[in-house]
Amino acid sequence: MGKITNKKIGVLMGGLSSEREVSLATGNAILKALQEKGYKVVAIDVNRDVAEVIRKSGIEIAFNGLHGKYGEDGAIQGLLEFSGIPYTGSGILASSVGMNKILSKLVFKAHGLLVGPYLVVHAEKREQLSEALSIMSFPLVVKPSSEGSSVGVSLVYRHDELAPAADLAFKYDREILVEKYITGKEVQVGVLGDRALGAIEIVPKNVFYDYEAKYKEGMSEHFFPARVPEEVYQRVLQSGLDAHRALGCKGYSRVDFIIDAAGAPYILEVNTLPGMTATSLLPDIARGTGISFPDLVEEILRLALV
Ligand SMILES: Nc1ncnc2c1ncn2[C@@H]1O[C@H](COP(=O)(O)OP(=O)(O)O)[C@@H](O)[C@H]1O
Ligand SMILES: [Mg+2]
Repeated sequence: MGKITNKKIGVLMGGLSSEREVSLATGNAILKALQEKGYKVVAIDVNRDVAEVIRKSGIEIAFNGLHGKYGEDGAIQGLLEFSGIPYTGSGILASSVGMNKILSKLVFKAHGLLVGPYLVVHAEKREQLSEALSIMSFPLVVKPSSEGSSVGVSLVYRHDELAPAADLAFKYDREILVEKYITGKEVQVGVLGDRALGAIEIVPKNVFYDYEAKYKEGMSEHFFPARVPEEVYQRVLQSGLDAHRALGCKGYSRVDFIIDAAGAPYILEVNTLPGMTATSLLPDIARGTGISFPDLVEEILRLALV
């Protein structure tokens, strides 16, 4: 298939979520890549008036550069479906389930993926928090159900740290997760189209892959391909693809895992709109397999029309 050069493409970026800044970086990188490739492209800074802005812009395809609430959870996908505008990435259902770490764990389990021990706690039933200690030992990870970029995520080593960690997570969500901290290698799988491209290993300088480790230069090291034995590598690739398919994702995604000492890949989540700056993880994986950043962006755009 040739270039979609005659179509007007809108890159959706910014948005209303806690990941607005990250999305502006993603969106601008996509914009530049598409311009380099010779596409007719406009930037659309997503705000409350997005429906009107999209209508007036006359765009024919939307490249979704958003992250987090309203961008990654099916909301903007619904608006685009309603408007009859094709868009990159996953549809409404995969996006909304993928954004919800509680629902997505249930889907992963049903599809035979490895999910570590966890407990769900609702804001109205905070007393459930104490149950965590009867089913798991420290360290624990406390996180909101529907955030990203490690926003609201805490590592908990001691009893007295649990309540403050829950308070923080409840700032972002009415439902939070208490998970057993899985000790091992953090590995993420990039999926493009219908194949797992590769798996990258992340070694954060901080105790976990927190906001700073994700976005501050030099705060994490990436190793591609992930430094694990070949059979473990193949297993995590397959698990990544299984997770992508289990949620019904489309186009691309990045799937987070911790691989324990025995080589078992525990899934953390699927990112249906992974970071897309030239130095983000999925672009890093793609580059490692010989796909340049502009080529990756072009392929994701092409997949919006299939
Ligand atoms: N159960 C866990 N065991 C070990 N590390 C974890 C666990 N859950 C989260 N983490 C760490 O926290 C980071 C963010 O968690 P994640 O569930 O991927 O949420 P987000 O959507 O914010 O990226 C992970 O990349 C990992 O470093
Ligand atoms: Mg993550």
